[in-house]
Amino acid sequence: MKTLSWRTLLIGAVVITLVIAGLVYFFARTPDGPQIIGAPSTPQTAWDQEHWAEVERGYQLATQTYELLPDNVPVDRLHCSSCHLNAGGNPKSAWWVDLGARYPTDTDLQARINQCFERSMNGNPLCTPATEGAAGDCDANPEMAAFLTYMQWLDQQWAAQGLDVAPPQGYPPIAQLTGDVARGDDLFEPKCGICHGVSGQGQTAQGEYAFPPLWGVHSFNASAGLARNQETLARFIKWNMPLNTPGSLTDQQAWDLAAYLESQPRPSEVAQ
Ligand code: HEC
Ligand code: HEC
Repeated sequence: MKTLSWRTLLIGAVVITLVIAGLVYFFARTPDGPQIIGAPSTPQTAWDQEHWAEVERGYQLATQTYELLPDNVPVDRLHCSSCHLNAGGNPKSAWWVDLGARYPTDTDLQARINQCFERSMNGNPLCTPATEGAAGDCDANPEMAAFLTYMQWLDQQWAAQGLDVAPPQGYPPIAQLTGDVARGDDLFEPKCGICHGVSGQGQTAQGEYAFPPLWGVHSFNASAGLARNQETLARFIKWNMPLNTPGSLTDQQAWDLAAYLESQPRPSEVAQ
């Protein structure tokens, strides 16, 4: 009888401990944050049905930019998705959600997209946005329309996550440090070379870039955000690279690699 009650007590204690641990876990766990928005696969809503061709086209343009738009991207061998991972659907990668808050009119957003074409893609704008005096031709440009519609679709996917938080913007923050080119040089080959090549030239498979170039003629030009602003590049690297283990570098390593990448040659600045 006595042993049985000890056993019962012991089992009771274990059960209570498990229940308490469960409750602590339940209340202490951090709520799930913004999730990556995947590629458009099937239309879900009436709005989707109506706009699906443009949504899919916008996604394709973002992920096969130089292949599909050779007139606008003649030399650069990047995709929008090279820097906006998951085609603008990745909350840690300057995603294309809630852009209306920063670019209140279509004209503002068209101008911002063109800016990435001219600098990050080292190419030519898609169209001429309207100004006070002139109508411009962006509203009639099918590629620009596809980008804007795809971005609206991303907004809807974000809304569907139902999170009561402000959507992130840009690349997440990083400590204010100073990058060192020599240390970045030492880190580059072991951490980055396997994909981007030991000379940062990227890697091709059947003529297509499987891993994008980080400097040189096929890269973004000196006016691009990643070239002009070392903190932006450090933030991008810290939260997105190495692609298979993002977040694994220290803040200092991200700054050192940013300093090293920015010390390398790339196409010159565009006229302002
Ligand atoms: C070489 C890297 C790179 C490529 C390629 C690139 N961008 Fe960007 N883009 C950036 C950076 C850096 C920013 C600024 C992010 C920030 O706010 O810190 C940016 C910002 C933007 C923004 C504004 C985002 C905001 O939150 O204000 C849009 C829209 C955009 N890019 C669209 C595009 C499109 C469309 C393409 C393809 C045609 C493209 N980008 C290609 C690097 C790139
Ligand atoms: C596992 C492969 C892999 C590794 C390792 C890797 N990257 Fe990348 N990186 C990519 C891919 C792929 C992209 C383009 C993103 C996409 O298409 O989804 C990219 C994009 C980039 C870009 C923006 C586009 C460009 O070409 O400029 C930079 C900058 C970059 N990586 C830097 C680094 C640095 C620095 C390291 C080392 C810390 C690194 N990467 C390690 C695969 C990798």
